[in-house]
Amino acid sequence: MTTITLVAAALLLSSCTQNPITKAAAKPISVDAKTLADTRTVALQLRDQLGAKLHTEMAKNSPASAVGMCNISAPEIAAAVSKESGWQVGRIGTRIRNASNQPNNWQQAALDNFADKAKKGEKFDAMETYSVATENGKPVLYYAKAIGVQQPCLACHGKPENIPVDVKAILQEKYPNDQATGYVLGELRGAIVITRPL
Ligand code: HEC
Repeated sequence: MTTITLVAAALLLSSCTQNPITKAAAKPISVDAKTLADTRTVALQLRDQLGAKLHTEMAKNSPASAVGMCNISAPEIAAAVSKESGWQVGRIGTRIRNASNQPNNWQQAALDNFADKAKKGEKFDAMETYSVATENGKPVLYYAKAIGVQQPCLACHGKPENIPVDVKAILQEKYPNDQATGYVLGELRGAIVITRPL
């Protein structure tokens, strides 16, 4: 009797899962390897272009002149990479200097996820996360790649007492509400973020 009840229950359950509506709703939109690889490439493009420009400016001139470079060039480079790819590509911070780099809810959750992974010893270089969402009825991919604090970053994002006086003056002038100082080497700084259609 018990067996029969169980079999009946199992049949009922399996017939439920065969229901096409349930099946369609339960099936997540998957992200294929090429889509992910292309997205990652664009994130690295932004990182490398910014890094190269910063490196050249710091080597050629000074951190103070590089602040001016970052102030104008960083948003410009992000805009150029966005235009070229047709996606929204930018940077966010755990604390921000430029108010337009404020993370949205999904991006904040990504930063929390990276901070947890870092506590477990995972390296920032290999850290990324993504999910599929729907915007205006169409599937989009949200992607984030972690950015860690390295030595050269400290001239502009380190402890205030270690930031050169001339750099501090420019930062105060251009970013009176700057929150992006006080970082230490190896800390999570933020992420490169991409929103793109699928
Ligand atoms: C010469 C000064 C300077 C150096 C060095 C520097 N930054 Fe910045 N950083 C800035 C300025 C200025 C901004 C705001 C410009 C922008 O991106 O909108 C900024 C913004 C950022 C942001 C975006 C979030 C926010 O706070 O607005 C991230 C992420 C970031 N920097 C990471 C780094 C990392 C990582 C390094 C080291 C590899 C670094 N920065 C080195 C000046 C600097």
